[in-house]
Amino acid sequence: MSGARESVHGMWSGRFAFILAATGAAVGLGNIWKFPYIMGENGGGAFVLVYLLCIVLIGIPVMMSEVLIGRRGRQSPGLSVKTLAQEASASPRWQIAGWSGLVASYLILSFYAVVAGWAMAYVIKTARGDFQGAGAEAIGAQFAAHLANPWILMAWSAVILFVTVYVVGRGVHKGLEKAVNFLMPSLFVLLGIMAIYSATNGAFGEAIAFMFTPDFSKLTINGVLLALGHAFFTLSLASGAMIIYGAYLPSNVSIAKTSMLIALVDTAVAMLAGLAIYPLVFQYGLTPAEGPGLIFVTLPIAFGSMPFGTFFGTLFFVMLVFAAFTSAIAMIESTVAWLVERKGLSRFTATAATGGSLWLLGLLTVFSFSGASWATFELTVFGKSITSFFEAVDYLTSAIMLPLGGLVIAVFTGWVMKKKSTEEELQTSALMYGIWRFAIRWFTPVAVAIVFLHLIGVLDR
Ligand code: PHE
Ligand code: NA
Repeated sequence: MSGARESVHGMWSGRFAFILAATGAAVGLGNIWKFPYIMGENGGGAFVLVYLLCIVLIGIPVMMSEVLIGRRGRQSPGLSVKTLAQEASASPRWQIAGWSGLVASYLILSFYAVVAGWAMAYVIKTARGDFQGAGAEAIGAQFAAHLANPWILMAWSAVILFVTVYVVGRGVHKGLEKAVNFLMPSLFVLLGIMAIYSATNGAFGEAIAFMFTPDFSKLTINGVLLALGHAFFTLSLASGAMIIYGAYLPSNVSIAKTSMLIALVDTAVAMLAGLAIYPLVFQYGLTPAEGPGLIFVTLPIAFGSMPFGTFFGTLFFVMLVFAAFTSAIAMIESTVAWLVERKGLSRFTATAATGGSLWLLGLLTVFSFSGASWATFELTVFGKSITSFFEAVDYLTSAIMLPLGGLVIAVFTGWVMKKKSTEEELQTSALMYGIWRFAIRWFTPVAVAIVFLHLIGVLDR
């Protein structure tokens, strides 16, 4: 009986508030900044296909599991899982599923805030008209110059974290929810406009071929792992976020339907971002393997030459910043909820302490991009070369922690929790329940295990 427990942190006002917050958590830099460049680095079409399969077969079921855990446990991720483990007379050790999510989202936010800072800086650059009439080369040089100055990057990430702390600490989600209410649809429309512009002015055919013709010879086992990890990242899974948001979810909302809706919107945004960016990549002779700077060196080219480019460009980066904010809030929330529950801190102190420490940790990313010698190195992990602290934190979280965390969540809800409990919480049709349960008991564990066994070389490549 989910109504038995109540969250001490408050509740969503209803289904729609939850959908907005959870979609806000899902849609972010992952869709618009990260997806296009990792797709490019991993060969395009085949990567996209594996990613889409992971979303449908693994992502949606795991999201349902997490929301279920949160709603039934009604606490921060670790404590929710612990409570449900008790309910199932299982070992309290299962709570690791919640804690690893909390740690993962903390680590992710350390670089996420830095990249959100780039987007904020680009609001000003675009509004000022820095890209008007500038060619691809000049725009690339501007981005390189932006990264080269660690002080600027530190200042912008401080601004991002400060606002996040302010919003979360004051509990003013309400205002933000309202803003997101119209910003999300606008972002969607604007991405659509960008995609149409790129399609008509760029190398659209080449872009489509790159994104949707799977060439499996270009996909390595690491590419598969990154596609799997990104499915988790983009849906905010195994990171505590969906558990903690589920904890504030009223009991009468359909977990299955809302999870599918969120995944659909998230995927659509990622595809639109790809369609907006790749025609420009090929048109201007850039390489798909451009890396983390990809959107910052392609989209400004369009903004610099399209009609009303300054207006559209400024709007675009403003929305990107908002999308990043709603994700940052979701990442910080579990840590804050835990500090309030267990350490007795006030909400504001908990948030401020978390934000301050994140800024410090973010210096690893700042100096990775400014190219400081202490932050860059050569390392090969499971056949993947890692050249900076940023890449190390990204790989550790997206490629390792999220898939393994998802595996534990799947096993916990599929094998450890009593069937009766999950049935009662999901309240869905027998067919839907059957599909979910099969996916969570078999697909997720088997898929994650196979990928990791390949990775460590136990299975033949
Ligand atoms: N899903 C967000 C994005 O795609 C990132 C995120 C990860 C948010 C983990 C919350 C928790 O940008
Ligand atoms: Na996303």
